[in-house]
Amino acid sequence: MCGIVGIIGKTAVSRQIVESLRRLEYRGYDSAGIATLEGGVILRRRAPGKLNNLDAVLSERPLSGHVGIGHTRWATHGRPNEVNAHPHATTRVAVVHNGIIENFRELREEAAAKGARMESETDTEVVAHLVTQALEEGKSPKEAVAATLKRLRGAFALAFLFSGENDLLIGARRGPPLAVGYGEGEMFLGSDAIALAPLTNRISYLEEGDWVILTHAGAVFFDENDQPVQRAITLSQISGNLIDKGNYRHFMAKEIHEQPEVVSHTLSHYLDLTTGTIAPASLEAVDFKKLSRLAISACGTAFYAGLVGRYWFERYARLPVDIDIASEFRYREAPLDPGGLALMISQSGETADTLATLRYCRSAGLKIGAIVNVPSSTMARESDVIFKTHAGTEIGVASTKAFTCQLAALAALSLAAGKARGVIDPAEEHDLVKALMEVPRLMAETLKIEPQIERLAKSLAKASDVLYLGRGTSFPIALEGALKLKEISYIHAEGYAAGELKHGPIALIDETMPVVVVAPYDHLFEKTVSNMQEVAARGGRVILITDAQGAKEAGDVYASIIVPTAHSFISPLIYAIPIQLMAYHTAVVMGTDVDQPRSLAKSVTVE
Ligand code: AGP
Repeated sequence: MCGIVGIIGKTAVSRQIVESLRRLEYRGYDSAGIATLEGGVILRRRAPGKLNNLDAVLSERPLSGHVGIGHTRWATHGRPNEVNAHPHATTRVAVVHNGIIENFRELREEAAAKGARMESETDTEVVAHLVTQALEEGKSPKEAVAATLKRLRGAFALAFLFSGENDLLIGARRGPPLAVGYGEGEMFLGSDAIALAPLTNRISYLEEGDWVILTHAGAVFFDENDQPVQRAITLSQISGNLIDKGNYRHFMAKEIHEQPEVVSHTLSHYLDLTTGTIAPASLEAVDFKKLSRLAISACGTAFYAGLVGRYWFERYARLPVDIDIASEFRYREAPLDPGGLALMISQSGETADTLATLRYCRSAGLKIGAIVNVPSSTMARESDVIFKTHAGTEIGVASTKAFTCQLAALAALSLAAGKARGVIDPAEEHDLVKALMEVPRLMAETLKIEPQIERLAKSLAKASDVLYLGRGTSFPIALEGALKLKEISYIHAEGYAAGELKHGPIALIDETMPVVVVAPYDHLFEKTVSNMQEVAARGGRVILITDAQGAKEAGDVYASIIVPTAHSFISPLIYAIPIQLMAYHTAVVMGTDVDQPRSLAKSVTVE
């Protein structure tokens, strides 16, 4: 998604803006641009593609202004070319934008009728023209922005720079996040605290509907009714050295390898590791005993974590779970249970569809719980109960460690629910908590299979389609495996419940088709083996991910990846690792942009 940076500095700001934009690269983007004031005049530099292209433009035609705004654009309206790149500007104002202006067509027509000439295909440019027309009517920059914001429909974060105003930036937020940073005689705007980390750790977040006026002297906030409001300054913990891959070639590789540590960290917040029981805080967070249903909603990888969670809550807590992809939830018009619990799952805590579902559930009278990785995110702030995952900042667009931390939190919460509802007794509690406590060690052991997967990836990279199969909790892992592979290698992949194979996808199988089967040796193993045989009988190449006993029982397959034997409760956490490594190494063989795959964004702040 787009990234926004704004700086009122003491010296030339263009270099700092580009460096802050670099820290937003993880969000995904396809063009970039910057505008500063030179002698009171707005000057812009923009370039399609990555920030290096903008860098090259700036080297040829530098900008020396002390106040400026910058942007990384993830194209929604119009191709990623220079003309569509932000900032969009008139002679009076420049604007950068994250989100979508839904009524831009009617606003464009109206602005054009009053003489505005649009250059781009974007929904953003009209905002610059509306502000300009308001300025030409005699309004001040503050009044012009306030009037324009009232005309806009949709979800957006905006930053404005005005000609002749060396000590002024205005930011606004309706939907996507925007943060204000406080420096020494300098002020900053950024899409998040990560962008601002090397500049300052003193941050205020705009609340929904807020807008803010920045000058060297500080920030003045207004709410959606234009009333002055105070927004607290928090100290961000995010490190300025964040953009560090260590010894790894990609952030994704680093994040895959961090999993034993971050999962252990996450579990330690939900379990009492000394007594081997569920931590009292996990039991007290929600009155699980009173719940008659749980509604889970999320997108993408977080949705697959939720699918695993459904198996756990239903099995270990006998709690019925409704689970929906967030973009569908609101439109299903499901009868909801006022007083019930809706659980959102999100790494970023900013995903537009999940956030909209959160608000929909709240308006239906449900209590809101959120499993989130970014504690300062909108979802965290709008939830009644926050279940934090402690994955640390995830930079790779393809989610890995956030996924397994979501699984860790869901596993612990399902046990908390089971205990509260009297479904699991103390002996089972100990047994299951012990299994969870073994996850970090087993994950570390699982990572040792990497060289084998690296070799296998060479043949996987030649495939044009790959099928992933699994049963029970391995079914969502198969779905996640297919998502990971298609996201970063661009190879077409589908995940299926193994039992569905003969209801359609079996028609695809021939000797060119690798079929990845996720099958721990558990009570479902035999049934999955039958499905594997159906694949083999049609010449399909089975890549079996299993444990030692599974490999022994399975018979001949094209390749087996053997992971450590684990309690069936925790197998999704262990089997996530080989499917991540498989996608990662295949993408490396294919030479794709692993951390920032084409067309994808880290945080999807539009519906
Ligand atoms: C994961 O690899 C994806 N890039 C994507 O599916 C992601 O999980 C989804 O957009 C949800 O994001 P969130 O967890 O930040 O809400």
